[in-house]
Amino acid sequence: MNALVMSGARLATIIGTGPWPGPAYDSLTSAISRAIGDGRITVGARLPSERELAQAIDLSRTTTTRAYSKLRDQGFVITRRGSGSVVRLPEVPGGRIDHLLTPAGADEAEIDLSCTATVAPPWLMGAYERAVEQVPAYLPGTGYYPSGLPVLKELIADRYTARGVRTDPEQILVTSGAFGAVAIAVRALIRRSGRVLIESPTYPNAIATLEGAGASLVSYPLELSPSGHHWDIDAMDQLCRQTRVSAAYLIPDFHNPTGALLPDAQRGELAAMLRRNGVTPIIDESLVELGLDGGPSPSPMAAFAPDAITAGSTSKIFWGGLRVGWLRIPPHRVDAVAASRLSLDLGAPVLEQLVAVELMRDHDTIVAEYRTRLRAARDSLAAQVRAHLPSWQVVVPTGGMALWCHLPEARSSALAIAARNHGLGMVSGPNFAPTGGLDRWIRLPYTVAEAQLDEVGPRLAAAWDDALKFTDRIPAGRDRIVA
Ligand SMILES: Cc1ncc(COP(=O)(O)O)c(C=O)c1O
Repeated sequence: MNALVMSGARLATIIGTGPWPGPAYDSLTSAISRAIGDGRITVGARLPSERELAQAIDLSRTTTTRAYSKLRDQGFVITRRGSGSVVRLPEVPGGRIDHLLTPAGADEAEIDLSCTATVAPPWLMGAYERAVEQVPAYLPGTGYYPSGLPVLKELIADRYTARGVRTDPEQILVTSGAFGAVAIAVRALIRRSGRVLIESPTYPNAIATLEGAGASLVSYPLELSPSGHHWDIDAMDQLCRQTRVSAAYLIPDFHNPTGALLPDAQRGELAAMLRRNGVTPIIDESLVELGLDGGPSPSPMAAFAPDAITAGSTSKIFWGGLRVGWLRIPPHRVDAVAASRLSLDLGAPVLEQLVAVELMRDHDTIVAEYRTRLRAARDSLAAQVRAHLPSWQVVVPTGGMALWCHLPEARSSALAIAARNHGLGMVSGPNFAPTGGLDRWIRLPYTVAEAQLDEVGPRLAAAWDDALKFTDRIPAGRDRIVA
């Protein structure tokens, strides 16, 4: 096996040099398995010898030997004569991918470009451990918190207040991700056949949620200029007046999939226009923290539109597996939205809410580190598209998690099919279209693992070559579910 060899010193910079609370081999095992799990040690790397590691982190050889043995038992390392101890990932019963979320049929061997989601950050296991220690205090209660754990609601409310819109914890409802939050808001606000304004392109699950609620979608095509996508409030105004929409689902903060940001200067104008037309905004702030080029995070739309219901989430900054999100609700709507929530489920899990609390306390550090990684990935992917696919047009967004690329021909659906033969899972442009079209566009998330990033350009170019040869008509329809 020809593995990348890692020195003892390099491993020590990744896992630290202690202290190793006893038994030391246990904490060393956890430190290494965590680093493998969150991608800081890559699969296929060869760990330093037990002796070299012992020297680098000032532990006994017996301790490192026991730690490697435990890692082997747990499936994180395979040791073969002549190849040393090579990193692998343990089998997870049923696999790490849920096929409901990968309509293109991605498997673990593929590079998954179907999702704007990433692996857990290094902080996650520590947060879980601290959260577990707090669980006993909650056991004497029933564990049902339909509006959310008070300590979490307070932290979320404080963050809104710090961002410029005073928020009482009573206005916060903790949900199962931003997706659950939007579903609750939609159920509370939207009557069957009610008209709802939605950007095109947009987040595919929102289309499904609104359609599922019986809403009639009015699509507002984001404007396009050489500097990227943007909103024209006058054009939106005209549409609102002509169609008499009663609500709008909007993603003004590093919009999925374009990455567009509504400038602060336009926020008041948008809010006033919606108010004039009697439109209640549902603002999806899932990506609001992911500005990648510096500057403060955008002002909350709720500061301009007091009637707005805002959805937020820990998924894009911490980890999708937490499934913790929230709604910020104007006081006069709290009861109606809470009733809507109770008709859907009875609250988020206590443990995950406690984990979210722990992560929120380190919010700024975690987000800063994540932004640095995402920025590098964005720039690398954009450079690859330019180098390998010069006929595609890409405007590099100032935030978010994906590039939204314009293709020279309407072959996005063909590309998503061709990509499978090149080990790429992709979702075609029409999935992002509320009312059809967009086969000239493809979303490329730059959230793929660092080790896979360099392979994306060459594989994409090969898939595009194949897509250009397709002669059969590909129906430009929607897949199932996309994140
Ligand atoms: C705009 C938007 N809203 C909601 C979600 C889903 O978020 P969550 O995992 O918190 O449900 C996503 C995920 O990609 C998203 O991009």
